[in-house]
Amino acid sequence: KAFAKKVMEEASVPTARAHEARTLPEAEAALDEFGSPYVVKDDGLAAGKGVVVTEDRAVAVEHARACFEAGGSVVIEEYLDGPEVSLFVISDGKNVLPLSPAQDFKRIFDNDEGPNTGGMGAYTPLPWLPEGFVQEVVEKVARPTVARMAERGTPFVGVLFCGLAVTNRGVRVIEFNARFGDPETQVVLPLLESDLLTVMESTTNGTLDTTEVKFRDGAAACVILASGGDPLSYEKGKEISGLAAGQLDAADVTVYHAGTAIKDGKLVTNGGRVLGVTATANTLPDALKKAYAATENIHFDKLHKRSDIGARALAAME
Ligand code: AMP
Ligand code: GLY
Repeated sequence: KAFAKKVMEEASVPTARAHEARTLPEAEAALDEFGSPYVVKDDGLAAGKGVVVTEDRAVAVEHARACFEAGGSVVIEEYLDGPEVSLFVISDGKNVLPLSPAQDFKRIFDNDEGPNTGGMGAYTPLPWLPEGFVQEVVEKVARPTVARMAERGTPFVGVLFCGLAVTNRGVRVIEFNARFGDPETQVVLPLLESDLLTVMESTTNGTLDTTEVKFRDGAAACVILASGGDPLSYEKGKEISGLAAGQLDAADVTVYHAGTAIKDGKLVTNGGRVLGVTATANTLPDALKKAYAATENIHFDKLHKRSDIGARALAAME
């Protein structure tokens, strides 16, 4: 996280103001400078669980303390208000090619309550985005970042996953990942009309400037079925029913396995996020309806899902 912040600063990419802290007094000073809501990030990979956003100062301090005790440092940030957007931008080290934007739902419970997870659902396209949004992110975020990485002598080739907040002061980077995102990929790739392998070859060959990506019209939605108790503590090994051949009676529905295993010949849960139920349709309301309908067929003990994936976008469309 600290490295990404440094590159963003060097490239003048808009992001939340931040301080890296290595001691508790440094962390507390940064928390007080930015004020509530507090944002404290473990400076390493933490499966989407290293970030605490809270209005409770004691909770923020406690998270920083836990990260220090584990031997790490933290990044403390100003809070960014506004809806989140994920945009995957492919880079060959020089040229960039954006895919279509998606929205993920990080918190475990409806109305964005509870702790952060890796993501509880996603949809694309985002009808509420301002016109020219993707181009703006390419110009203000992706190009300068990729150019800066090349200047540093470490050209970046792969997926620059831009996690963005659309604030009233403009777009800001929340984070970068150097990979595809989950569950956003489950909705972005099904609408990709172009051949992904060709795009990947152009990425490694450095010819993305002459490569086009086409997306088909329509929408896709994904609802995550998680183990109750995730992300804090949950049980594994629960038998999953409803996925045998012929049981899932829905065209345009794909169930992606995330945390499953076969035990004694039976399909069982084996992680926090268990399945990603994805549907495509001509319209966003239909894609969401189809994905949710398909989740009704699938059962396991303590299954948890959010019931409001895409709900705000639908309300805004009415
Ligand atoms: P990250 O791993 O950095 O993407 O953080 C995980 C999640 O925490 C993000 O998707 C946001 O929901 C939230 N978050 C992170 N940084 C901020 C910030 N500066 N302001 C508001 N929310 C944030
Ligand atoms: N869905 C967010 C991520 O993959 O990190």
